[in-house]
Parts: sequence; C-alpha cells; structure tokens
Amino acid sequence: MIARNNTEIKGLRTIGRIVRKVLDELENAVAVGISTAELDELAGQILESEKARSAPKLAYDFPGFTCISVNDEAAHGIPGPRRLKNGDLVNIDVSAEKNGFWADSGRSIPVGDVTVDARDLCRATRNALWAGIRAVKAGQPINVIGKEVERTAIEEGYEIINGLVGHGVGRHIHEPPEVHNLFMPNHTDLLADGQVITIEPFLTSGRGDYKKANDGWTLKTIDGALCAQYEHTLIVTAQGPIVLT
Ligand code: CO
Ligand code: CO
Repeated sequence: MIARNNTEIKGLRTIGRIVRKVLDELENAVAVGISTAELDELAGQILESEKARSAPKLAYDFPGFTCISVNDEAAHGIPGPRRLKNGDLVNIDVSAEKNGFWADSGRSIPVGDVTVDARDLCRATRNALWAGIRAVKAGQPINVIGKEVERTAIEEGYEIINGLVGHGVGRHIHEPPEVHNLFMPNHTDLLADGQVITIEPFLTSGRGDYKKANDGWTLKTIDGALCAQYEHTLIVTAQGPIVLT
C-alpha cells in the first residue's frame, strides 16, 4: 500500500508495534526444551490481548499463529511438538493484522550454545537486511535494495536463497511488488513516498536452493544447509525508511 495520511501511518505503526512485541516476547521465551507449539501458543495469546489477528491464519489458513522454522528450514515451518535443542537456530516469523493494517517481521534466534558459524550467518544476514534498509528512499529504483543485499551477502561469503523475497504489505500480508534480495536489472520502478514494503534476506552457508517439505508448507534448503532470515516492515519516505517493526 501507499500510506497517504496520518491515520494510515498510525494504523501501520500500531500493528508494527504489536508484531515487534510478539517477536520480542517469543525471543525471550526461546530456550532449550520449549516446543515450537508452545512458542506459537504464546504468540496467539499476545495477539488476542492486542486484538490483532495472525496474518498467516487469516490470509492462508496456515496451521499456526506464526511460522517457526528450525535449522535447514528456511520459512513457513509449522509450529508443533518439536522441542528446541541446544545449538538449534530457530526462525520465528510473525505477521499480523489489526483494523485492516498488516505488518510482517522475522528473526533467526540461536538456541543455547550455537556454533560460531551459525552466529556468523545470523550477523551476516542482519547486515544484509540493514544494508537493504539503508538503501530505501522515495524516488530510488526498487532494485537498489537487492543490489545492496546481494553485495553484502557476497562480501560476507554466503549465498542468498533464490526465490524467497520481500514484498509490499500494509493492506494485506502479501502485496506487489516483490522486493528481491538479488540485483534485478529490470526492476526499475521507483519507490514511492509512503510505500509500505518488507525486506527479508534469507542467507545460507549452502548453495541457495530450497524445496517444499511433504507437509505442504515448510520450505527447506535443498542441501540441508543452515539458513537465517531477518525481516522488517517499513514505510518509504523521501528522507529514508521508517522501520515499523
Ligand atoms: Co515474514
Ligand atoms: Co514477509
């Protein structure tokens, strides 16, 4: 969406704050032995107390309030009885709606003592996200985002998972345009003042391809390599981005 007035910006800020709160509380709750279903139940309680609704449930009838993906699972993992183990890398992706406004954010979170490699992958992926965010400005072509994300991933020595992208958001969970994590020479549409988008790089130590698991939802790296994702929702302005989440 393009946010055109203060009422819309306020609605977006509200749902952005709620999504951030859910992620903060779930990150605090991440511990060895907790199940992904228990984390998801906590998210459901917070969303209910904020009078917000789970975006994946609302938009896709997803079997969970949040997507929780572990290790080689890149995205859309279904919360369930799996208990987190020391050394796991868990990604929690929270998206929600309130009063017709939608926001989306995700984080990869180390469980207990993870390897140096896993920590480095997280650091590199956060760097890639923030390089993309810093490139955002009204009037710039949208492909400046992918250019910066890709450049950072290459510098850091990781592959980008091909085909998993950010997106427009605000009035629905997934709106056009796609916000690629690679430089797309032909994607020269200009970012508009008030445009609401997500940026969400997925980096991996493997070769960067994924497949859908037999559950019909979970996306896993094809080679079993570790994957990390960080995501924010933001409003484009002439002065730069307003990060909502
Ligand atoms: Co997300
Ligand atoms: Co997203």
